[in-house]
This record gives sequence, structure tokens and C-alpha cells, in this order.
Amino acid sequence: MQVRKGCITLRISQQTLNEIKFRNSIEDVVSGYVQLKRSASNLVGLCPFHSEKTPSFTVFPADGSFYCFGCGAGGDVIAFVRRAESLDYPSAVEFLARRAGISIVTDESDKEMYARRSSVLKMNLEAARFFNSCLFDPKYGKEAMEYLCVKRGLSTSLIKHFGLGFAPDNYGMLTRHMSSLGYKDYELSSAFLCGISKKNGAPYDYFRNRIIFPIIDPSGQVVAFGGRVMDDSLPKYLNTSDTPAFRKSRTLFALNYAKDSCAEQMILCEGYMDVIALHGAGFSNAVATLGTAITKEHARLMKRYTKSVVICYDSDDAGQKAADKAFGVLGEVGLEARILKVTSAKDPDEYIKKFGRDGFSRLLKNTESEFQFRLGKILSKYDIANTDQRLKALDEAIGVIAGVQSAAAREIYSRIVSEKFSVSAENIAKDAEKRFAMSERQKNAIEKERLLLSATGISDRVNADYVKNPRAASSEEKIIGILLLHPEYIEQMEKKGIAFSSDDFFTSFSKKIVALMLSFEGRPFDISSLGTELSVEETDRLTKLKMDREKLTDNSLQLLTEIYGKMVEDVRRSEMTADEIIKKKREKRKSDRHR
Ligand code: GTP
Ligand code: MN
Repeated sequence: MQVRKGCITLRISQQTLNEIKFRNSIEDVVSGYVQLKRSASNLVGLCPFHSEKTPSFTVFPADGSFYCFGCGAGGDVIAFVRRAESLDYPSAVEFLARRAGISIVTDESDKEMYARRSSVLKMNLEAARFFNSCLFDPKYGKEAMEYLCVKRGLSTSLIKHFGLGFAPDNYGMLTRHMSSLGYKDYELSSAFLCGISKKNGAPYDYFRNRIIFPIIDPSGQVVAFGGRVMDDSLPKYLNTSDTPAFRKSRTLFALNYAKDSCAEQMILCEGYMDVIALHGAGFSNAVATLGTAITKEHARLMKRYTKSVVICYDSDDAGQKAADKAFGVLGEVGLEARILKVTSAKDPDEYIKKFGRDGFSRLLKNTESEFQFRLGKILSKYDIANTDQRLKALDEAIGVIAGVQSAAAREIYSRIVSEKFSVSAENIAKDAEKRFAMSERQKNAIEKERLLLSATGISDRVNADYVKNPRAASSEEKIIGILLLHPEYIEQMEKKGIAFSSDDFFTSFSKKIVALMLSFEGRPFDISSLGTELSVEETDRLTKLKMDREKLTDNSLQLLTEIYGKMVEDVRRSEMTADEIIKKKREKRKSDRHR
């Protein structure tokens, strides 16, 4: 079985996969995320992948699968973990293997994948040591050390704690050092430690004349680096791009330390320097994204370690806008979030320097909820002594209340707004409830529309060609559904002289799935074994197609043969129409010319 990860192909033996699935029962794994209730022979709960109030998320222990009748997410236990932990296929398999204490038996190309990852990690560790020793060597690091200690006020022990370093102002020092350890230029460039000159193919150090911040993952591996200039030149920071060992969108700076002290609360900052200052002052539960806005993947990662997040962004407009977004993302994954307002300083780093540990502790005790944050923004935007502006402000405030899911919270917030605007709480609550109900109806309508569209194949992202030939595409999906229930039919059809070929199919989705099925050459396959080559959305779709067929009584070989015949005809007809169009156009051109 093959998995493409980057440009590497990873093979996991079917036996290992079976073992992993056997030891990670779907009920068990899902229970870690969803409260499941028994319903006949299945289990149901609230879907973790979309927001719902009545459970449509169903686990089928009999065949180890799940399916959400609301949002269409589905698949086996691996597909579940891919979604829930936002992992790619190999990482999801690794995750489950670790969970069950199974070591993954690797064959050749699997080894190659792990080798590349661990080679990047080894190079990073060597590079981190090199940068660190340059910082502590006055011959190279004098100015950098002065910058860190004097200008930024860091203690030597804090510098050591974070393993900070310095990349000398030189095009080849690191590359030469790494070469002397036996690393090849192309290996170094795959880790973004050096670039390769387009002009003459020579390597050059990627980080030069920069303070180096090693980025260390929770297992203690150096996965990447950030590099800061010491003056006002640009770019201020340079970061490692994604490598086989690093994904920026799911990595948090200092999580390696924060993970041990953040169970109750995690502090989320914007910058490396904020985090370092906070840790230095004893707030070792601080982390930062790496210069990108917070992603859902970041939020899910945080949720693994903490219950609640304090957003602690810069006090400028950009920081406040980013906070707005962070509230949304954190809320979506079900994390509690509050915001800490940094006042009289531009960022937490500067605040700590001015007001110290105790000052920051006071700020931490005075965090605001999302509601307070949003209401505060409204009140500072409008002059509520002016009637027109006051109405606008009230309207926005009611909008904020209406966006809150809990009815009790809406009641409390209505009272707060009532005091601020001297309008009766009853009237505010009434308006808010109306708007809440309206937006719920709208949400439901949008969801219905989405389901309808996906059922009819319009705006179908998984099977984009569906609309081009719905008749053929619908038959194709039936065929795929039946084959998922009865993989043995492929061989039986062949024996009857009907050989499947992916070329017979119309949509590129069907072509891909059928080609995959055929690549098993008579060995049994199922959604999991196909899943290695599929996106989570494609896995959802296959699960749906299989479930749709399962509900029907006739899934016989006879029926499959009939549908197949019909499909081939439909595909041919559509091709003929295309030919006809061209023919007609030619004829028209000819007759035009003769005129
Ligand atoms: P100081 O200015 O030294 O206090 O650093 P800071 O970490 O507070 O920086 P700032 O608030 O300007 O930016 C926050 C984070 O965004 C930084 O820590 C970086 O991760 C990232 N960042 C800032 N500037 C750049 C840039 O020019 N390029 C990239 N890739 N990231 C940047
Ligand atoms: Mn800063």
C-alpha cells in the first residue's frame, strides 16, 4: 500500500494496518472525542466535525466505521483520526500505532520516509548547536549577545533555556560546518539550512547575520528555526519553510515547555520575543504561532493540551484584528477563550519589561470574555450620547448577543447591555432572541441547501465532473458503492468477459477510485486500504456511497453488470455529443466559407 507524503512514497504493510485497526476499536477511539450513546447496534453522538444539537454522528462497531448524516464525514478509525487530529494519513496511522503501543513495521520506502524526516531533525540539531556556539563565541556572537542581553534584556540562563543562537554574517559558515559532518548540499537545502544558487549551483547559508530561535516540538526535536535581524532591515524575521519535519500551520513556538504547565490555561502570543519574556517572568504556559494567523490546526493542537486560552496579542490594530479572528477559530474547536488587554505597552514583551511579573499577573486576573471584548469595541467605536450612533451601537451589541449559543448567557448579556444603554433588558433580550432564531433558521437553510447541492452534485468539490454528466456520474457512484460492498465482483465480471477499466468512467473522481481498486489486482480492498491515496473528503464520499448501497436490498452482480452497461452507454453518448458538436461546427464553418 502506498501513501504519498510530499514526494515520498510510504508503504505500510496491510498486516500492520489490520493490527492497528484491530487494537484501536472505533468506539474506543471516538469516545475520546465524542460522548456516545447506544442506539440499537450502533452508537450516536454530537458530530465533532460540525456544530449540531441533535446527534447525527453514528458509529458502526460492526464494520468499524463512522458516518455523520449531518455533514457527510465518514470512514474508518484512521479517517476519524485524520479529521479529529488534522493529520495526514501516515501521521494518523502513526498516532493510532502509538495509542495502541504498536511499532510500525516498515518496509523499504517507509524507511526512506522516516529517514528523511529524521535526517532533517538531525541536521537541525547540529545546526542549532552550531548557531548556539556562535552566539557564545565572542569572535562571532559579541554583537548578538549584546543585542539580546542589553537591548532586549534577556538573562543568559533564559538564552540558554531557549537554545538561542546566532547565524554569522557569512555565506558559507554553516554549510561548511555541516559538510564537515558529512551532510550533502541537497540534504541541507531540503532542511532549508542552505539555499542553492540558481547561477552556479553553489550552496549558501540561508540564515545570515540573524539571531536564531530554534523551534522545538513537544517531543523535544528541533523542527525549524526563526531568524531575526538585529536592526531595522527587512525582512525582520526569516523562518524555515515547510520540510518533511515541519509544518508551520500546525506548530507552536515554546509548546515543548508550555505543554507541562498549560493544562488549565495557555497564553497565546504573537511573537517569539513575547513568549520568551513571559517564560522569563515565570509564565511558562505561553506559546506563539510562527508569524501566521492562528489556524484551526493550531487550535486543535492547543486543545490537546489545554482547556482554555488567553489571547495576548499586541495592542495595535493588527493585533486586535487578529484577536477577533482567534476568538472565532478557538471557539470553533470548542476551546474556552479570553483576551488579555496589554495597556501602556505595545506588546507583552514590553509590558513585562515595564511592569514586571506582578504587573502581568494583574492583567491575567482581568481578562475579558469574547462578549466583553466585542462590546468594548462597539462602545469605543460609537459616541452613545448621540442618538443615531447609540442606535447603531445598540444594534451591533444585540448582534453580538444573538451570536451566543447559550440561552442563559444571552440573558445575562442582555442585562449588561441594558445597563450600558439604559434600555430595558426585556426589549434587548426580545430583539436578540428574534435575531438568534433568525440566524439559526438561516444556518439550517444553508445546511439544507448544502446537503441538497451535494446530493445533486452541484458545486461538488469531491466529484467536480458530476454535473457535466449527471446520468453517467450517478451510475458510476452506484458502481463504486457496490464494489465497496463486494470487491470480489471485479474478478467475477472479468470471468464473465467484462473487464473494468478506469477509462470507461467519466468523472475523474470515478477514474481515480476505479484505478485504485484495480491496482489491488484481485486482493480484497476496503475504504481503509483505498484511503491511503485519498483526501478525507474523498473518504467521506466513499463511505456515503457504500452506505447508500447498503440500505438497498439488491446489490447483486447482475445489477452491477446492468448499471455498468448503462453507464458505458451514457459515457459514450456524452462523448458522441461532443464529437457531434465538433462535426456540426466544422460543417457550419464550411458552409460559411462557401457563402
Ligand atoms: P520584536 O520586534 O523583536 O519584539 O519581535 P516580535 O516577535 O514581537 O515581532 P512582531 O510582533 O513584529 O511579529 C510577531 C511575529 O510575527 C514574529 O515573532 C514572527 O514570528 C512573525 N514575523 C514578524 N515579522 C516577520 C517577517 O518579516 N517575516 C516573517 N516570516 N515572519 C515575521
Ligand atoms: Mn515585539
